Amino acid sequence: MSNLPIARLLATILEAERLAWECAARQAPLAAALHQGRFLRAQTRQEAVHAAVVRASLFAIEPGGRRIATPAEAALGAYRRRLDRDLCEANLLGSVIGMQIVFEGLGSFVIGRMNLALSGHGERYGPARRLLARQEDSHHAFGTQVLAAALDRRDLPLASAAETIAEYRELAHGILCACDELFTEFSVSRSIYQRRFDDALEATELPGVRA
Ligand SMILES: [Fe+2]
Ligand SMILES: [Fe+2]
Repeated sequence: MSNLPIARLLATILEAERLAWECAARQAPLAAALHQGRFLRAQTRQEAVHAAVVRASLFAIEPGGRRIATPAEAALGAYRRRLDRDLCEANLLGSVIGMQIVFEGLGSFVIGRMNLALSGHGERYGPARRLLARQEDSHHAFGTQVLAAALDRRDLPLASAAETIAEYRELAHGILCACDELFTEFSVSRSIYQRRFDDALEATELPGVRA
C-alpha cells in the first residue's frame, strides 16, 4: 500500500486536531463553572498532545515534512468559521455543540473506524488510536453533559439547540463529503460512513433534541 493515502488521512486528522486544540483553548476562559474551565484546560492540553502524536505519525511516513494537501481543507475551513462565530460571540454553549458534541462525535466515529482504513498497517497506529479514542469520547461526553444541564436550567430552548446541532451536523457532512476521495482510496464508501456517523451521533445526542 502506498504511503500517500495514509499520509493524506493523517494530514486531515492533524488539521482536525489543531482545530479542536484551538477551540478548547478559546472555550476555557468562557466557562463560568470552575469544573468546566478545568475540563476545557485539560482538553486543551490533550488536543495539543493529539496534534503532536498525529504530526509525529505523519512525519514517520513523510520524513521531509512536506505539506500534504488534503481534500477536506475547505470543509474544515467552513467548520472553523462557524465555530469562530460562536466563540467571538462568547457563546460557549453553541461552541460546545459545535466542537464537543458534533465535531468530537465525528472524530470519535472516524477514529473508532480507522481500523477499516489502517488495517493494512497492522498495529502500528494501535496505541495512539486507542489513546485518542478514549480522550475524544470523554470530550464528547462532557459536551452532552453541558448541553443536558443547560436544557435542564432552561438556559436555551430545545428548538434552538436542535437548530444549532442541525447547522453543525450539515457542516460535518460537508467534511465527510470532502473526504470521499480518501474513503474511496481505502475502499470504504462515504455513504456508509455518513449513515453510520448519523446513527452514532443520534445515539449520543439527548432525547428530545432532534435536528
Ligand atoms: Fe483530539
Ligand atoms: Fe477531542
